[in-house]
Amino acid sequence: MKVIVVKDYNEMSNVATDIMYDVISNKPDCVLGLATGSTPEGLYANLVALYREGKLDFSKVSSVNLDEYYPLAPENDQSYRYFMNTHLFDHVNIDKANTYVPNGLAQDPEAACKAHEDKIDELGGMDIQVLGIGQNGHIGFNEPSDNPIPFTHMENLTESTIKANARFFESEADVPTRALTMGIQSIMKARKIIILASGKSKAAAIKATLKDEPTPRCPASLLYSHPDVTVICDEDAYSLC
Ligand code: GLP
Repeated sequence: MKVIVVKDYNEMSNVATDIMYDVISNKPDCVLGLATGSTPEGLYANLVALYREGKLDFSKVSSVNLDEYYPLAPENDQSYRYFMNTHLFDHVNIDKANTYVPNGLAQDPEAACKAHEDKIDELGGMDIQVLGIGQNGHIGFNEPSDNPIPFTHMENLTESTIKANARFFESEADVPTRALTMGIQSIMKARKIIILASGKSKAAAIKATLKDEPTPRCPASLLYSHPDVTVICDEDAYSLC
């Protein structure tokens, strides 16, 4: 894995923006693999600014998202569909029909997972996948486990993830306990992967990803075998390395 250590959150967002800018301008019909959470918010704000300045065109771009809470309606302001609309899709000229977020209200979640994985294949994989990282090293919603499920699937969220994400909900009890998520092998279908991390709360996960033996107990570390992964982290996130 390549590592870029920057001063702070803004620099992390700017480095990620430059990489995304290159991908989108070199391939106008590219497929973006997108993530949610507070980490990529700065990146998305920068992409919106570049679009408004006329420097980026999303009209031929498609996107697939990593994950979605289950069950949760797309209209719910904590859903990842809502997050993507409000942080990016509503502000650029992407055709929303070409944006794919797992369906958090699917009657048949197994079929929804298969449909998401099939869509990734139909699109030919992601040209770039953006990832944040959980405090326990999770990516998407792939939690630490001895037997990770490789492709898009339903995941039970750990206590630590529910606690970490409770800040977005009215109370911890409102956080869904399950999610639909791409698996590690789905993520590996991307030709290029960037992992963003900012702040001391991510330092242990970044150390486990970069310095320790790869293990499914730290899902991000499993990306070591991918040929094009760049970790962009600030000094706080790198502080235990
Ligand atoms: C959630 C998401 C992940 C994200 C993680 C970290 O669990 N499913 O994709 O990387 O949170 O979130 P944050 O960026 O807010 O720290």
